Amino acid sequence: MMEVAIDIQNLRKSFDGKDFVLNGINLTIPKGKITVIIGFSGTGKSVLLKHILGLIRPTSGNIQILGRDLWSMEQKEINLFRRKMGVLFQYAALFDDMTALENVCFPLREHRRDLKLKEIVDIAMNKLKVSGLDQKHFNKIPSEMSGGMRKRVGLARALALDPEILLYDEPTTGLDPILTEMVDHLIKETHHVHTGSTTVVVSHDLFAAFSIGEHIVMLDKGTVLLSGTPDVFRNSDIELVQRFLAKGFKTG
Ligand SMILES: Nc1ncnc2c1ncn2[C@@H]1O[C@H](COP(=O)(O)OP(=O)(O)O)[C@@H](O)[C@H]1O
Ligand SMILES: [Mg+2]
Repeated sequence: MMEVAIDIQNLRKSFDGKDFVLNGINLTIPKGKITVIIGFSGTGKSVLLKHILGLIRPTSGNIQILGRDLWSMEQKEINLFRRKMGVLFQYAALFDDMTALENVCFPLREHRRDLKLKEIVDIAMNKLKVSGLDQKHFNKIPSEMSGGMRKRVGLARALALDPEILLYDEPTTGLDPILTEMVDHLIKETHHVHTGSTTVVVSHDLFAAFSIGEHIVMLDKGTVLLSGTPDVFRNSDIELVQRFLAKGFKTG
């Protein structure tokens, strides 16, 4: 039977008490696979991701991560639990005044007080290496790096605590085609190097969905429109799915 990493039931979220940004999301994300969440912009993908990370409290509904009910935990426990998840946000959100190495050391210094500084630096250097950053860039600050290098540092930082679930929000939005291909490749590589890990990519890029997704979920207006393999999507006769497919293939 399929193992489940993330199980979401009847998730609803309203920020103002009137309009529901998420309006009854039911979703299971399989363990050990790459799931891509797609949908037009403004449809609630990032809000959903932040719910998975426990950064936003749902108005109603349940979120189970690795078998644990997120909001039945105390805030302190959630903060600890969040270490099982690594996240790479759109702009990598690196600290501007820290070097690549310092950026990756940061979560380790926060959460791994049991480690000596030397051990932390060793782990961080290793994560930068597996993320494909050349050692000669380790002491550069973000403004001295290219977009691709910053992505690699962001990825290394997301990997620092050896997360069981790795999440990416729009990892290739705004990147040129070559860098996009590089990042898509990096996501796949990273997933396969970490056996058993679960990857969730939020994207409005259909090519990414088909090239890296083993499982695809399409959101529309805060609900799940369709969920399944790439083939399920190719063969769907839902109009909005077809429109999304047509748009994706034309612009690419
Ligand atoms: N913190 C917030 N407070 C109020 N509204 C929000 C907040 N975050 C997101 N929204 C709204 O929720 C909707 C979905 O946003 P988002 O999840 O960012 O869409 P996308 O699918 O493009 O990632 C948008 O209308 C956005 O304005
Ligand atoms: Mg978004």
